[in-house]
Amino acid sequence: MLERRGIPTVADRLGSLSFIEGAVHIPFEIARVYYLHGVPGGAERGGHAHRRLHQAMILVSGSLVLRTHDGTEESELRLGEPTELVLIPPLTWRELRDFRPGTVCLVLASLPYEETDYIRTFEDFLSAVRRR
Ligand code: TYD
Repeated sequence: MLERRGIPTVADRLGSLSFIEGAVHIPFEIARVYYLHGVPGGAERGGHAHRRLHQAMILVSGSLVLRTHDGTEESELRLGEPTELVLIPPLTWRELRDFRPGTVCLVLASLPYEETDYIRTFEDFLSAVRRR
């Protein structure tokens, strides 16, 4: 199940500062940080699940629609709030679409990049959920 959490933020007349301390705000050890940016209008990203990877997604700027499936239920969220993060557990099918121009989507991940952790078809994803 996805979980939305607020990111602590200090706001004053000079703007806002949001901060994340891995050991305090993230329920896994952060092994990798990556971010999506420069995504052209109409692009759809994702279209996969991960076997073991935990992720936390933050819309630093802009917005997108995150569509997920956990093997039983589908969910669709528009994310666009830089003071919140969304935790995505392993075995979550995800599709990212409707990127607003200028969107920057930051992802904190529990493992280094590893192609064998990906499940690239929805059928394989459903089989993996059944075997869980
Ligand atoms: P992918 O995870 O498929 O992107 P998306 O789900 O956003 O469409 O990754 C796209 C490409 O980037 C793919 O060739 C793998 C590579 N990649 C890395 O090399 N390191 C990384 O940490 C990530 C996330 C992707």
